[in-house]
Amino acid sequence: MTNDAMSQDGTTRTLADGGSLPLVGLGVWQVPDGRACVDAVRWALDAGYRHIDTAQAYGNETSVGKALRESGLDRAEVFITTKFHPGGSDPVRAAEQSLRRLGTDYVDLYLVHWPQGGPTRAWPGMERAAELGYTRSIGVSNFDVAELAEVTAIADRPPTVNQVSFSPVTFRRELWEACERAGVVLEAYSPLGTGRLLGDQTVKAIADETGWTPAQVLLRWAVQKRIPVIPKSVHRERIEQNLRIFDIELSDEAMARLDALDRTHGTAKAQERKWW
Ligand code: A2P
Repeated sequence: MTNDAMSQDGTTRTLADGGSLPLVGLGVWQVPDGRACVDAVRWALDAGYRHIDTAQAYGNETSVGKALRESGLDRAEVFITTKFHPGGSDPVRAAEQSLRRLGTDYVDLYLVHWPQGGPTRAWPGMERAAELGYTRSIGVSNFDVAELAEVTAIADRPPTVNQVSFSPVTFRRELWEACERAGVVLEAYSPLGTGRLLGDQTVKAIADETGWTPAQVLLRWAVQKRIPVIPKSVHRERIEQNLRIFDIELSDEAMARLDALDRTHGTAKAQERKWW
């Protein structure tokens, strides 16, 4: 199966290693550990989400695990992503700790959160975590084109996903195209521009024309390019709304107006300024 493959109903993307990534997931970056996070994940699972994206750096894996258990869903029904905090030295030990916090035997996807210490430093440990069955798939986050190529060059098991900030305004077209060529699925974090894009005039105009919300316009823009998105919300109605984008379609003209919002000039970079 190629990574171009889509599920029959068009709601998941097949990874190069055969994994199946639901195109919409709930992101829990900046959701505090505790009730707020448990509720958001529960509401998402109740609404039909089958993909939750957390990270060691977010400090809320325990709440994600609690919500998963409270939902009563089988573990196998939900795609869980967590990310190795590259300030640490050992992805295997860190994965064991994540699994304890999540209360599960494995995650579906384990990402190097950012290329601290060089793009290849963590990769042998990531591969080991996969061999041990701690994760089904491995990938990276915040890697630019050159960093991705460096990892792929030394990998026994190449990355399947590169999760980066991606929206019409952060439309890093060169990075997206390089990922596609390499068989790596680019996954979009901050697809709503951390909320800032919801007030954009073009987005609002298309929302008015279509009768959808600005959030739905932005998420549909990515999903129509077959790019998985992980919008964050702690409000039940918004969480529900953000999943209702599979029975709507943007016209080619609306897609082009959104594409034109790009302020990255089609960059190959994952970040304008590296924080590590
Ligand atoms: P909240 O969590 O209070 O609902 P991103 O996913 O790009 O990081 O954006 C997340 C931001 O967008 C959060 O501030 C979130 O607020 C807000 N948000 C998420 N979904 C919606 C929505 N459907 N309508 C309005 N705001 C939303």
